[in-house]
Amino acid sequence: MMRVLELYSGIGGMHYALQESGVEGNIVAAVDINTIANSVYKHNFPNVLLMNRNIQSLVVQEINDLSIDTILMSPPCQPYTRVGLQKDISDNRSSSLSSVLELIPRIQSLKYVLLENVKGFEKSEMRNTVLKCMNDCRFHYKEVIVSPCQFGIPNTRYRYYLLAKRKDHKFCFDHFISNFHLPEDVLKVLPKKYFGEC
Ligand SMILES: C[S@@+](CC[C@H](N)C(=O)[O-])C[C@H]1O[C@@H](n2cnc3c(N)ncnc32)[C@H](O)[C@@H]1O
Repeated sequence: MMRVLELYSGIGGMHYALQESGVEGNIVAAVDINTIANSVYKHNFPNVLLMNRNIQSLVVQEINDLSIDTILMSPPCQPYTRVGLQKDISDNRSSSLSSVLELIPRIQSLKYVLLENVKGFEKSEMRNTVLKCMNDCRFHYKEVIVSPCQFGIPNTRYRYYLLAKRKDHKFCFDHFISNFHLPEDVLKVLPKKYFGEC
């Protein structure tokens, strides 16, 4: 059973995604700074330890005390979105992700990271920083840009996903991912109920 830290937890989209995925995992803590989102999260998941905190205030000791092996995170997208100023790492809203990247090498039990962001993140300097962190920590990773439309959900909303695992853990698919496209046959390893035509 995975022990998961949900960062930038908002109203709990990642928590629901974990439940829907069928992967056995337990969100042991969630962190977000927005009190309104947090009250919705608390309503949805009353039993999770929810920290109403700036992620930049997290220290490694308290994360190690949680014995998590997985981080799910959807950091703020405004610094990277194609319809914004694309200030990237010079946007203050990217600072908390930088601090997470400083913590990651010191989280001894960490094995898996899932990061979600807007299309546009793949061209950012922050993405290069994330990949450097993954390489330095001996994680291997795959990056895809996918839309709900590819899973039978009638919504065109392309999003960037980084899936990273410590090098001693294998991916269930070995495909080379070219230009962020999810190979069609990878869809075969995903739950069938989501397949369909838009
Ligand atoms: C893209 S949204 C994530 C949405 C979330 N996955 C959900 O299902 O609602 C980014 C979230 O990060 C939170 N956030 C932004 N900067 C933060 C910081 N420095 N510390 C904690 N939370 C932060 C925002 O309040 C917002 O809820």
